[in-house]
Amino acid sequence: MALLPILSFPDARLRTIAKPVEKVTDEIRQLAADMLETMYEAPGIGLAATQVDRHIQLIVMDLSEEKDQPMVFINPKITPLTEETQPYEEGCLSVPQIYDKVNRTSRVKIEAINLNDEAFEIEADGLLAVCIQHEMDHLNGKLFVDYLSPLKRQRAREKVEKVVRQREKVAVKR
Ligand code: NI
Repeated sequence: MALLPILSFPDARLRTIAKPVEKVTDEIRQLAADMLETMYEAPGIGLAATQVDRHIQLIVMDLSEEKDQPMVFINPKITPLTEETQPYEEGCLSVPQIYDKVNRTSRVKIEAINLNDEAFEIEADGLLAVCIQHEMDHLNGKLFVDYLSPLKRQRAREKVEKVVRQREKVAVKR
């Protein structure tokens, strides 16, 4: 197991379009395990491979209180099940300390593959629906701040750069 460095906004690598996983190998299983460890450590509730500079369609998530229900989505596809949208205050490990409301489809069908290379399908609403759409955006090179006004996005960029500089200082002192 290993902690992976997380790319932060406005890193251009976050704009990469992820490729489908051709086969679920041990290497993919190891990457998923490392991504989960990285996500729990951060701490966060979801992480897309794009954020750790691996450009394949792989997402990990854990929405449970106890942090004991890891979910892995490989080659996910989502289909809206309603035209209704819901606003939710989102954050992102690649945009640290920034939170803002984004409107997303409130109910979606998720089709994906698991780590045993088996296809599965679930209907999602609430936080799971929000989170899967947020993470799918990462695989398509998109960030939640893209939905905000240019002014808010600029402020987010300045704040994230400051946070990253502070973290680097702390890392050097250690
Ligand atoms: Ni994110």
